[in-house]
Amino acid sequence: MGDLVIAGLSKSFGGKCAVAGIDLNIPKGQMVGVIGRSGAGKSTLLRMINRLTEPTTGSVAFGSRDITRLEGAALRQWRADCGMIFQQFNLVGRLDVLTNVLLGRASQGGLLPLIFKHFGMRERVLAVKALDRLDMAHVWTQRADSLSGGQQQRVAIARTLLQEPKLVLADEPIASLDPKSATVVMDALRSINREDGITVLCNLHTIDTARRYCDRVIGMANGRIVFDGPATALDRAALRLIYAGGEEHDVNEAVTSVDIQAASG
Ligand SMILES: Nc1ncnc2c1ncn2[C@@H]1O[C@H](COP(=O)(O)OP(=O)(O)OP(=O)(O)O)[C@@H](O)[C@H]1O
Ligand SMILES: [Mg+2]
Repeated sequence: MGDLVIAGLSKSFGGKCAVAGIDLNIPKGQMVGVIGRSGAGKSTLLRMINRLTEPTTGSVAFGSRDITRLEGAALRQWRADCGMIFQQFNLVGRLDVLTNVLLGRASQGGLLPLIFKHFGMRERVLAVKALDRLDMAHVWTQRADSLSGGQQQRVAIARTLLQEPKLVLADEPIASLDPKSATVVMDALRSINREDGITVLCNLHTIDTARRYCDRVIGMANGRIVFDGPATALDRAALRLIYAGGEEHDVNEAVTSVDIQAASG
């Protein structure tokens, strides 16, 4: 139960193929990093999983649910089951931290509580607990836009926790952060994965992060999967495959971030 099964998944924009027939089986509880150069199709893949983007062909299933066929309330439920984390956090800047976290509950309580900022005590306690878990409870009254990027991303993760997600999809969650904040945010995602057993699928720009945090790494190039294995198998040959045909600086960035031993292999 709770495995994510992707079969023959493709997406074309106009005549251009962004994702080209992906088959992928992710058992419940894995932490998976998706890497690949810009335009490889990483975001499109993630967005098709929660149906922000409609696939051209293929299917996505989660447990017994055929995600690609969901409509109406069932589709809204699936979107609530998918916690999305974005590079730009997507908080409401003029609202306080606690309200932002409570927005994670929006799909369950409808719009009225949001409009009147009226949440029950149970919700509020859950929100503070989620913030506390991310070491952010002390800023609960502050406006979201007064926080640093790393703090905002932690609030975004707390908001996701309030959705009680079955799956977390993170699209470049640390791309806008300094290294210290990036570590805190990735630690938080890993703790959700390890402690709550929630599958995490995370698009990443840096190989080092994928190696450090992910059980499994998927390498994409031109809309296809060209590498699928443990982070330890991510050697120079695999990186050449993933970054083949890319801009020279992409290749250099990837290769310089591999430790010297692997690079010389
Ligand atoms: N809404 C869209 N309309 C048209 N083309 C799109 C759209 N979204 C993505 N594409 C194209 O699909 C391809 C894959 O894009 P995608 O955003 O999935 O790549 P990515 O791997 O996430 O890249 P990046 O690392 O830059 O985020 C690119 O060629 C992109 O231009
Ligand atoms: Mg992207």
